[in-house]
Amino acid sequence: MTVPIAIIGTGIAGLSAARALQAAGHAIHLFDKSHGSGGRMSSKRSDAGALDMGAQYFTARDRRFAATVQQWQADGHVAEWKPLLYNFHGAKLSPSPDEQVRWVGKPRMSAITRAMLGDMPVTFACRITEVSRGEEHWNLLDADGRSHGPFSQVIIAVPAPQATALLAAAPKLAGVVAGVKMEPTWAVALAFETPLNTPLEGCFVQDSPIDWLARNRSKPGRESTVDTWVLHATSAWSRQHLDMPKEQVIDQLHGAFAELMNCAMPAPAFTLAHRWLYARPSGAREIGALSDPDLGIYVCGDWCLSGRVEGAWLSGQEAARRLLEHLN
Ligand code: FAD
Ligand code: NAI
Repeated sequence: MTVPIAIIGTGIAGLSAARALQAAGHAIHLFDKSHGSGGRMSSKRSDAGALDMGAQYFTARDRRFAATVQQWQADGHVAEWKPLLYNFHGAKLSPSPDEQVRWVGKPRMSAITRAMLGDMPVTFACRITEVSRGEEHWNLLDADGRSHGPFSQVIIAVPAPQATALLAAAPKLAGVVAGVKMEPTWAVALAFETPLNTPLEGCFVQDSPIDWLARNRSKPGRESTVDTWVLHATSAWSRQHLDMPKEQVIDQLHGAFAELMNCAMPAPAFTLAHRWLYARPSGAREIGALSDPDLGIYVCGDWCLSGRVEGAWLSGQEAARRLLEHLN
């Protein structure tokens, strides 16, 4: 019997590693504490249509990632988003066009990770709490006390603070991961029955509790009868208001939105708030992935590189590369 490789996390980093290992002929099994794949690239189904509450778009600067994105485009899972971009600075809203190519999942951000997952074996709603090594193999324990295994190797593809808890068997790696801090982001969605009277579709924001805002409905393939917007608070504001009740977060960010938009702002017909506790690493790193090949444990995620979708995908590739190199 082939003993599979366990991958904890079905965000883009875990799925990137999974695809590479599967392509090399290895059996894998994925685990995620959520009910679906995507992690910070997932979308929320709502009465106002699917909303991208996490990653908004992504850029592809690495050659290998760009080639993969082209394949996703050919398969119909991504499309280019060409928003009318603005910048808000010094209390002034001004158009801020550029030449950057920006990609989004189609018809929603989660389409990418869903396609990557395909029919790979996965256990959802399963929070792994312990990763331990027996004489030959690895075993995983979940929050309900169930044991999973045996596995020949383990890849941990979760945000750094969540990875630390799973690295008791590899204290050296745990020490490095514990040094990586991650910042929160409050995300709010608002939907208006009457479209806001503005051409703006995306905006980089300074000097406000808001950091970024987007007209969700302007992205390709989004079907919505209402005018949907997603607002992201800055890391600093999110940290300061980490435990604020959702209704108040919505009120405050709606207020900041009204202040910076130069148009009449009706009451929203629909609102939603989501708190990303580990949204982005504080600072960029160039560690690619972490590994202890003799032990058979690997760690990857966006925080190993740029803290972006591209960095997460590349980190997953790097974890798989190191694992395959050790086996060959
Ligand atoms: P994740 O997506 O976090 O995946 C980790 C997975 O592991 C999750 O599914 C989680 O449920 C699971 N998990 C965690 N712990 C356990 C456990 N113990 N057991 C089982 N499963 C577990 N990037 C861009 O490039 N462009 C953007 O515009 C952009 N905007 C963003 C806006 C926000 C609000 C946020 C939060 C992120 C944004 N990002 C953006 C960053 C981007 O989303 C991430 O870099 C990327 O999605 C991270 O992928 P990952 O696989 O490393 O981690
Ligand atoms: P990018 O090249 O579009 O943006 C990078 C940065 O350049 C922007 O944050 C912005 O400050 C600036 N910028 C780019 N185009 C601009 C324009 N036309 N006008 C004014 N400023 C402009 O995309 P990249 O490099 O792929 O970055 C991804 C984005 O994801 C960033 O904006 C980053 O802040 C965001 N992100 C947000 C997270 C969160 O938790 N809120 C987590 C991780 C990434």
